Amino acid sequence: MSNSWTSASGADLSAGYARHAGTLRGALRHALVARALRTHLPTDSQRVLDVGGGDGHQAVLLARAGHRVTLLDPDPGMHKRAAERLAAESEQVRDRITLVEGTADQATDLAGDGFDLVCCHGVLMYAEDPRAFLNDLASALRPGGLMSLLTKNADALAMRAGLEGRWADAVAVMGAGSVEGNLGVSSRADTLASVEAILDDAGVTTSCWYGVRVFTDHLGDAPVGEGFDYVLEAEWQAGCRDPYRQIARLFHLIGHKQ
Ligand SMILES: C[S@@+](CC[C@H](N)C(=O)[O-])C[C@H]1O[C@@H](n2cnc3c(N)ncnc32)[C@H](O)[C@@H]1O
Repeated sequence: MSNSWTSASGADLSAGYARHAGTLRGALRHALVARALRTHLPTDSQRVLDVGGGDGHQAVLLARAGHRVTLLDPDPGMHKRAAERLAAESEQVRDRITLVEGTADQATDLAGDGFDLVCCHGVLMYAEDPRAFLNDLASALRPGGLMSLLTKNADALAMRAGLEGRWADAVAVMGAGSVEGNLGVSSRADTLASVEAILDDAGVTTSCWYGVRVFTDHLGDAPVGEGFDYVLEAEWQAGCRDPYRQIARLFHLIGHKQ
């Protein structure tokens, strides 16, 4: 029996994810999201839910910073990798992380009085019904709590194909809603405006948003090389401002619940 969870679209995410995690693109995505979270999160210990938290990369960074994290993910393969990652951490960090097997629709059940932060990075694109999915995330937040949402940018889908010189593909995905992603499975892209409209209805207002991977998204499986910090700084600066952030592969929205 397969050890990996398969999404409603039939996608086996964990195999593709493991391949991607060690690349420059994968490393940048994690580093840019982590930097934004450090910018927006209070430093005192926060109660965090990481929906679709995967192998625990962000959960560990947050726990090292003193936050208490519940990682909710349906994939036993991801849980196994998260457990292996945790085993390498100090007891203090390990104790701050709880692994829960389940999907986003269970977020409210875990919420109690509401989480201070709900993270959801790289997951919305696999959800069949974005409104229901985002409502589940919003309902797990306390009033004043933060949401950190990373997903694929439908306004810039043609950039990767264009920069790779795949002209027919660039034309085909221009204005399209879904495309074959990094992980070898088809996934949906959303516009920032459509996500903001749904979140607004759910009582979550955008505080800030970032573009993620402006200059590097076409670099395929290039490994992390020397000079990573320079690449990271260039991506961070571009991701913080127009017009660059508009053409990033992903957008990272930080919102707060009313
Ligand atoms: C591309 S990985 C992202 C993992 C991690 N958030 C990160 O940023 O590296 C997508 C994760 O979402 C999980 N997932 C897919 N559908 C989900 C759902 N409906 N609810 C919760 N997690 C889900 C998968 O099991 C997988 O671990």
